[in-house]
Amino acid sequence: MTTLKHYLQFNDLTADEYTYLFERAALIKKKFKAYEKHHPLVDRTLAMIFEKASTRTRVSFEAGMYQLGGSVVHLTTGDSQLGRAEPIEDSAKVISRMVDLVMIRTYEQTKIVRFAEHSRVPVINGLTNEFHPCQILADIFTFIEHRGSIQGKTVAWVGDGNNMANTWLQAAALLGFKVHVSTPRGYEIDEKLAVGAGGISASSYQFFSNPLEACQGADLVTTDVWTSMGYEAENEERKKAFADWCVDAEMMAAAQPDALFMHCLPAHRGEEVEADVIDGPQSVVWDEAENRMHVQKALMEYLLLGRVA
Ligand code: CP
Ligand code: NVA
Repeated sequence: MTTLKHYLQFNDLTADEYTYLFERAALIKKKFKAYEKHHPLVDRTLAMIFEKASTRTRVSFEAGMYQLGGSVVHLTTGDSQLGRAEPIEDSAKVISRMVDLVMIRTYEQTKIVRFAEHSRVPVINGLTNEFHPCQILADIFTFIEHRGSIQGKTVAWVGDGNNMANTWLQAAALLGFKVHVSTPRGYEIDEKLAVGAGGISASSYQFFSNPLEACQGADLVTTDVWTSMGYEAENEERKKAFADWCVDAEMMAAAQPDALFMHCLPAHRGEEVEADVIDGPQSVVWDEAENRMHVQKALMEYLLLGRVA
């Protein structure tokens, strides 16, 4: 029996646990590629709750859980009592009596925290307004696959100070790398969110008002949509504010010659990234998307069974 552990933000695991997870994900991926059965979660059920849209998160968790020998239940706001104002605490008590693991994609982080407080089983953050830890788990795994350890490296974040940016900052403080952040004025990251496990320090975070300068010397350049889910009403205003925060060939040229480009997807070519970058030789976005499944399989196995190797 493992102790109850949730994955609500990147800081919920230690650097040592991440080392284990990255090694485990590599092994699980290798088995998957070799069509080798890996069924540690037979008879276990994952409930996936989506209050926002998804392609990658849905497919990677659902396919991943089946590949581990388990099964899934898929719920959305529209087709469950969640959309009819049943208290989140009551939903947590009920759902967690019937399944072994819960993944939630929702709006405020406080909602997932409240769910976890009343859950009998581990809860995984599949994206909130504030954080997207499963994506950064996949991104760092992808970096390691291509370039080795991320420790001591520099990541350039170009764009919105959003859930992805906040999670990169947590990861940098925890795993010992630096994030150069460039956002338009008014869209800066909320530094308080990244506090914990070392918090924000000059060694893990530097702000640049000029996105080109943020990319200088970076080992990885990454961005995300200008308008995240839930902020659609601000779309037109954001398009104006973010016009200069489009990752292009000039920004990639300012980075290290072997710099990688990442984007969590979905992408808008011609907005936050030019097509020749996202579809170019430095882009690893398809590996990044695929790796969601492999790292989440390692994560689900870990939350339910602890270290198995
Ligand atoms: N990157 C990501 O979380 O994609 P989806 O919104 O398609 O799940
Ligand atoms: N920041 C984006 C990520 C989508 C995967 C959003 O929250 O919509």
